[in-house]
Amino acid sequence: MCGIVGYLGNEPVYEKVIKGLSRLEYRGYDSAGMAYIENGDLIVKKCKGKVVDLENVVGAVKPLSHIGIGHTRWATHGVPNDANAHPHCSGDGSIALIHNGIIENYATIKQELMNRGHVFLSDTDTEVLVHLIEDVRNAEGVSLFEAVRLALSEVHGAYAIVVIDKSNADQLIVAKKSSPLVIGIGAHDDFYIASDATPIIEYTKNVVYLNDDEVARVDRKTGLTIVNIDNQSQTPYIQALELRLEAIEKGGYDSFMLKEIHEQPRSIEDSIRGRVNLKTGLIKMSGIDEHEERWKTAQRILIVACGTSWHAGLVAEYLLEDFARIPVEVEYASEFRYRNPIIYPTDIVIAISQSGETADTLAAVELAKERGALIFGVCNVVGSSISRATHCGAYTHAGPEIGVASTKAFTAQVVVLYQIALSVAQKRGVISNERTTRLMAELGSLPLKVEQVLKTNALTESIAAIYQHCSNALYLGRGYSFPVALEGALKLKEISYIHAEGYPAAEMKHGPIALIDENMPVIVIATEGASYEKVVSNIQEVKARKGQIIAIVTEGDKTVKGMADHVIEIPRTDDSLVPIVSVIPLQLFSYHVAIMRGCNVDQPRNLAKSVTVE
Ligand code: F6R
Repeated sequence: MCGIVGYLGNEPVYEKVIKGLSRLEYRGYDSAGMAYIENGDLIVKKCKGKVVDLENVVGAVKPLSHIGIGHTRWATHGVPNDANAHPHCSGDGSIALIHNGIIENYATIKQELMNRGHVFLSDTDTEVLVHLIEDVRNAEGVSLFEAVRLALSEVHGAYAIVVIDKSNADQLIVAKKSSPLVIGIGAHDDFYIASDATPIIEYTKNVVYLNDDEVARVDRKTGLTIVNIDNQSQTPYIQALELRLEAIEKGGYDSFMLKEIHEQPRSIEDSIRGRVNLKTGLIKMSGIDEHEERWKTAQRILIVACGTSWHAGLVAEYLLEDFARIPVEVEYASEFRYRNPIIYPTDIVIAISQSGETADTLAAVELAKERGALIFGVCNVVGSSISRATHCGAYTHAGPEIGVASTKAFTAQVVVLYQIALSVAQKRGVISNERTTRLMAELGSLPLKVEQVLKTNALTESIAAIYQHCSNALYLGRGYSFPVALEGALKLKEISYIHAEGYPAAEMKHGPIALIDENMPVIVIATEGASYEKVVSNIQEVKARKGQIIAIVTEGDKTVKGMADHVIEIPRTDDSLVPIVSVIPLQLFSYHVAIMRGCNVDQPRNLAKSVTVE
């Protein structure tokens, strides 16, 4: 949450900052701002709203400065307004700072600073930090670099910051703790700073991911210098980016969300490629192979995640218990970390996160690590904090997901978790070769099946047109389809602002059935499989109360077709793989309803893509 960018180089900063902020806008879009040095003055432009509003504030005369910083905000402390927008400045206006994270002890520091005469113009924790830096610099008579380091040693919380000083147009100071930050090193002594690599990829492939508790200085004359919070010099580790520019552009689609829904045949294929060997019947996953004994002897697996990733975790619970016969507990990372959980050193903890930056999931990982568990990460963003904090893992190869609502990341997560479950089952010797071979072949056929489901787009759109004005919706599924019901409901509420609930189909009669009347769409995943007949009974219960049924059924289904108001057919596959196929029409349904209601599907209100605060 919050996107930050910085540039120091030989070209005008304005375009770099605006473009960078547009790429990072998925991280928050409550306000936008920038600061740059021109003719010895530190100029700050900022406003409530989006990057396009910032462009209007700057107006026709663009700054020519070659150094600057920019910010796009997801509000934590203080409402979204002009005053709370970043950058924030020191009392004397000489330093400006942008920040992603939360300064937890800001209230105490603010009080102390106010006692010393500091006056604050915003409600933010960030403004406190820039005043603290100013205070330390004046009191100690040290450089800005040193003042930032000393100030940060008084701070509790999470931060990625970039600081610019009016009296030095040749340097930026950068620091990080628990919020992501990457520094790109260009070919011409130019530096690009950003919350993730998307604003950088166009200019350079050489990047340094700053570690927690590191403070860096980028300087035209001296280059990149890094120290830790104890002032020990650190050697920058330069890595090559693998990201492609096309992957972060809309590619002819109206929205990132629609593009990402349609990318799923490819992202699923990429998440399988190189792992499944149909000839040998084996699955190769280094994070499992390298810790084979731990997986063989584990008494329990804990899965920690949030939101959509948590739904993928629920599917994994069914898979791991079904295939590998290991007890699994799936935890909301935010609950897990605060309830003194029982974690045995023999446990394996799987952390699932698209961004790899979710603060609660990262904290759950740290906690489980301290207690001796083996931590396996399933992340999409290479080099992200969670992927670095885990002992081992497997990346989902979904490519950058920019739409705030997770779509292709979910299916890629389930695909990777599927392979984990099969691989562990093989290692533990609890699955027959015949079953593995059949399931592997089914898995391999998914990209084509998903391609086929995407053809239901027009039908789904026509159903969405009928229900676009509804106020509530119920999603029902059973077994492997229960997590899909949760995921379908989450998609609808987050992008169309319609209240929606996901339920295990059989639980409906224990309460939610009271909600059903002729205005209530009930979306049921009623594919063939173990609980098909039970779900058919649930459909009848809904129809008896005049509810409107939209059913996702297996192709050729006749029974449900005779009862439901609308059916969307999906290709036949194994029960365990249905979530990957059945979630697609639910994604499309939410997308169309949201578009028809005039909602911004890529940037739904109040949300941000990467939740780096608790
Ligand atoms: C919903 C959505 C969120 C994320 C959640 C976890 O569409 O995207 O619920 O799934 O914030 O994010 P990651 O997976 O990045 O840890």
